[in-house]
Amino acid sequence: MTPLLELRGVQKHFPVRDALGRARGAVHAVDGVWLNVMPGEVLAIVGESGCGKSTLGRVALRLIEPDDGQILFQGEDFTALPQKALRARRRHAQIIFQDPFGSLDPRMSVAAAIEEPLILHTTLDRAGRAARVAELLTRVGLRPEMAGRWPHEFSGGQRQRIAIARALASEPKLIIGDEPVSALDVSVQAQVLNLLQDLIRDLNLGFIMISHDLGVVRHIADRVAVMYLGRIVEEGPAAEVFSAPRHPYTRALLAAVPGQGARAAPLQGDVPSPISPPPGCRFHTRCDFAVPACSAAMPELKGSPARSAAGEAQSRESAGHTDACFRSAELPPAAAFHENTTGGERLARLAQRFQRENA
Ligand SMILES: Nc1ncnc2c1ncn2[C@@H]1O[C@H](COP(=O)(O)OP(=O)(O)O)[C@@H](O)[C@H]1O
Ligand code: SF4
Ligand SMILES: [Mg+2]
Repeated sequence: MTPLLELRGVQKHFPVRDALGRARGAVHAVDGVWLNVMPGEVLAIVGESGCGKSTLGRVALRLIEPDDGQILFQGEDFTALPQKALRARRRHAQIIFQDPFGSLDPRMSVAAAIEEPLILHTTLDRAGRAARVAELLTRVGLRPEMAGRWPHEFSGGQRQRIAIARALASEPKLIIGDEPVSALDVSVQAQVLNLLQDLIRDLNLGFIMISHDLGVVRHIADRVAVMYLGRIVEEGPAAEVFSAPRHPYTRALLAAVPGQGARAAPLQGDVPSPISPPPGCRFHTRCDFAVPACSAAMPELKGSPARSAAGEAQSRESAGHTDACFRSAELPPAAAFHENTTGGERLARLAQRFQRENA
């Protein structure tokens, strides 16, 4: 089956300039990422604030241009498309953001916001569009008579439902959710997540869930990709990554449940600057298991599924679960990550670290 979306060695560096406009290095926001998303599949991208998740999501749809690598959408080279063709294809690849105010124009009624993509992408007449708006509002759990109201009249959860209805209007095959429930109260989060899960199943959507919240990811993801300083450090089936994380960074992210046997230490220190990322393994400055070799060479993802699907040689070691750590095979098994919503000290610390993103 052709993947819905393929990222092949995608890179985005933002130039950093001094006061005189001279180039002074670059932020290595996304640095050689390979990922595939299949139709109907939910891929979660997790990692600390600033590790490049949002940039990756935008680059995937060319809302930001990549500076290296290739993007294929339904097998077609997205990277080479001229702007006009790209806009037409974007109909089938939508993005929803943490703050629906960002994607909803406050001066547009709900009806107008949802109708806009229908005008752009369909031949429906006015009556047909009104009927479709009503249908979409119902689909996301709102009442059709809400169409005449304005974004500020709704709660955060309702606004996110409107943003989802607008995204659905263009009949997407892929939706990227960049922290789509992070700004919502926990109870509302669950409702919106349930809605997303229903839509993904009923419409066979591919979905990329960008989230700092491991609880959210655990409930919705089929696969998980863990990102650190612009690179994927572990990727695999969600159940495996959560129960048997391999990369020390993933272990640290998940080592949040008290009362278990062998636990990894919580993360120490801050993420290093992405302007001059550490040489070798980017995690070596914070890794409990680092040895001198770790700062000498960069560990690559072993047998990445996306790379092997693209025809690159695959190591036999791992077909679906892969990590970029020299030492992962010799490390003791990580304690299983159990669902524990009450958390613990470590979980609280981890949550705090991630929540800075939302501050
Ligand atoms: N437009 C931009 N110009 C310069 N640097 C940027 C830009 N957008 C993001 N960055 C930097 O790229 C890195 C990754 O940011 P981002 O993708 O937002 O990470 P995340 O979503 O994981 O928090 C950060 O260091 C951020 O400051
Ligand atoms: S390669 Fe070395 S520094 Fe990097 S995660 Fe593995 S043990 Fe730690
Ligand atoms: Mg972000």
